[in-house]
Amino acid sequence: MNSAELDQWTNYWLAVVEQALSSWISPQAPAGLGEAMRYAVLDGGKRLRPLLVLAAREAVAHGTKDDVLDEAALRAACAVELIHAYSLVHDDMPCMDNDLLRRGKLTVHAQFGEAQALLAGDALQALAFEFLTPDASTIPDTVQARLCRLLATSAGHAGMAGGQAIDLASVGMALSEDQLRQMHRLKTGALLEGSVMMGAACGNASPQALSGLKRYGEALGLAFQVVDDILDVIADSATLGKTAGKDAANDKPTYVSLLGLGKAKSYVQFLLQEALEALHSTGLTHTHTLAALAERVANRNT
Ligand code: IPE
Ligand code: IPE
Ligand code: MG
Ligand code: MG
Ligand code: MG
Repeated sequence: MNSAELDQWTNYWLAVVEQALSSWISPQAPAGLGEAMRYAVLDGGKRLRPLLVLAAREAVAHGTKDDVLDEAALRAACAVELIHAYSLVHDDMPCMDNDLLRRGKLTVHAQFGEAQALLAGDALQALAFEFLTPDASTIPDTVQARLCRLLATSAGHAGMAGGQAIDLASVGMALSEDQLRQMHRLKTGALLEGSVMMGAACGNASPQALSGLKRYGEALGLAFQVVDDILDVIADSATLGKTAGKDAANDKPTYVSLLGLGKAKSYVQFLLQEALEALHSTGLTHTHTLAALAERVANRNT
């Protein structure tokens, strides 16, 4: 799949995801909470996690049509984006990274106050699980339960929240490469890997395919955070839509502080090859979108 074809695929699905998110996040939540939730999620973000869910669903569906599993995948795509958006709201708060700029606008706590930001994050997290368990649904209970479990484990103590705890405990410390890899795998990699596995859960993947997709998600998830560390150093705030140079300012251990820029960049290319090799090992024939997304993640500049 070339870059123009990926753009076409991405533009189609971004429109579907935006529309679903906008219609499913009600502005009606009390006392301004709905406004803060919509502000946190809508109008911004690359939507990489939803795209990974949908591309993984495509890979395991082999082009067959199944409206019920298509709906499950769209719900999963939106649910994982809600968890991601909540993690960003909390990550930016003064008690964590203390950032004022996110997705090109003021952070949620700067715009609505800290208490409302805390609650918007909480409510987005809960809403993610509502998305996965719709009322009067034809989506099989087993698929709903599997999606909930994948999302919960990716977001919780053994995933994003656990990684964020390590991140905060590591300020000012020189971590070993193994420790840094573990922190990045949890704080960022887990949700990206979880996105791939949620897409795969919306289909009938063989154990071989699942294990290859998991390795793909692991490699891509780690690569994504290594690139985030690199961009924090080499990109500017206007391009990123968030404050550049924050890791050094906050004294965070990163792949750049540990390995230097050159080796960090080579490591990303190594992880990209690992991701592509893992895809190959799935034995699946429709993995071209996942491959193109991995290339884009490794070579992104925002
Ligand atoms: C930023 O994620 C936080 C990390 C996990 C590195 P993204 O770079 O995917 O942020 P958005 O969703 O595009 O704003
Ligand atoms: C964030 O890592 C990981 C999350 C779970 C949100 P960072 O703190 O590096 O993300 P940015 O750079 O603020 O987006
Ligand atoms: Mg952080
Ligand atoms: Mg941060
Ligand atoms: Mg960062």
